[in-house]
Amino acid sequence: MKFSTNLLGKNFHHLPTVDSTQNFLKNLLKTNQAPIGTLILADHQQTGKGTQGRSWFSLPNPQLMFSLLIKPHLAPQKLPLINILCGILMAKSLEEFNVHAMIKWPNDVYIDGKKVGGILSELTDGKIVLGVGINVEATSKDFPAELEHIATAVSLHAPNPVDRHELLNQFLIRLEEALEWKPDDLISFCQREFEKRWIYRGEKIQILQDSRILQGISHHITSSGALELITDTGVEKIIGGTISPLL
Ligand code: BTN
Repeated sequence: MKFSTNLLGKNFHHLPTVDSTQNFLKNLLKTNQAPIGTLILADHQQTGKGTQGRSWFSLPNPQLMFSLLIKPHLAPQKLPLINILCGILMAKSLEEFNVHAMIKWPNDVYIDGKKVGGILSELTDGKIVLGVGINVEATSKDFPAELEHIATAVSLHAPNPVDRHELLNQFLIRLEEALEWKPDDLISFCQREFEKRWIYRGEKIQILQDSRILQGISHHITSSGALELITDTGVEKIIGGTISPLL
C-alpha cells in the first residue's frame, strides 16, 4: 500500500490481526524499530484500547484502525490539542467523501449524533503513539446491542463506497502538512476548525467529573485544547470529564 506522504507511513506494517496496534507500535519503539512516521494498520484487533481504560470494539469487517508515531512541535501539556487536531483532520478527510463529521471534545468523531470513531494519543518518551479507530464499513446490525444507538459507521452516511485506505491516505497527507506548521498556526487552526465542528456548540451541556458535575455553554477551546465552559459563576477550563447535552 502506498501513501502520498514523505514521512508518515514510510515504515508501514499491515497486520491481519493483532492485540492492539498501540501495543504493537510501543513494542517496536522499545526495541528501536520505530522511526518517526511508523504506521501500524490492523484489520482486526483482539484487545483494542479506547480512552479512559475502555476497550475499542472490533467490528466483523475490517475497519480503519491504526497507530502512528509522531513528534509534534508542541509542548507536552498541549497534547490534548493533538487529539482535537486529528479529529478535525479526520473530519476534513471524510469531507472528501461527502460525509459531514463533527467533533465531540476531546477525542471523538461523530456523524449525525453518533460516534463513528475516536482518537487515543499516548505520550512515550517525547513522542506520541497516536491511535485512530474509524468505523468505515458496517450495518447497524453489526454493532452489539449496547452500541447500536450510539455508534455508527461511515458507510451508513456516505453517498458512495469509502475506501478505508484512501481515507487513511487523505488523513496522513493532512497530518503531515499540519505537523510542519508553527505552534501558533496549529493552535489557531484547531481553535477555528473546532468551533465549526463542535457538536454541542452553543448548547447547554453537563460535564461529569470524578467529584463534581458542571453545567454551562461552550463555544471554544484554549490554546492547550481545554474546553472553556461558561457557567453561571464564571469561566471554567475543562481538561477532562464526560460530556452530555442538557435537555
Ligand atoms: C476512543 O474513542 O476511546 C479511542 C479509540 C481508539 C481506537 C484505536 S483503534 C487503533 C488503535 N489501537 C488501539 O488499541 N486503539 C486505537
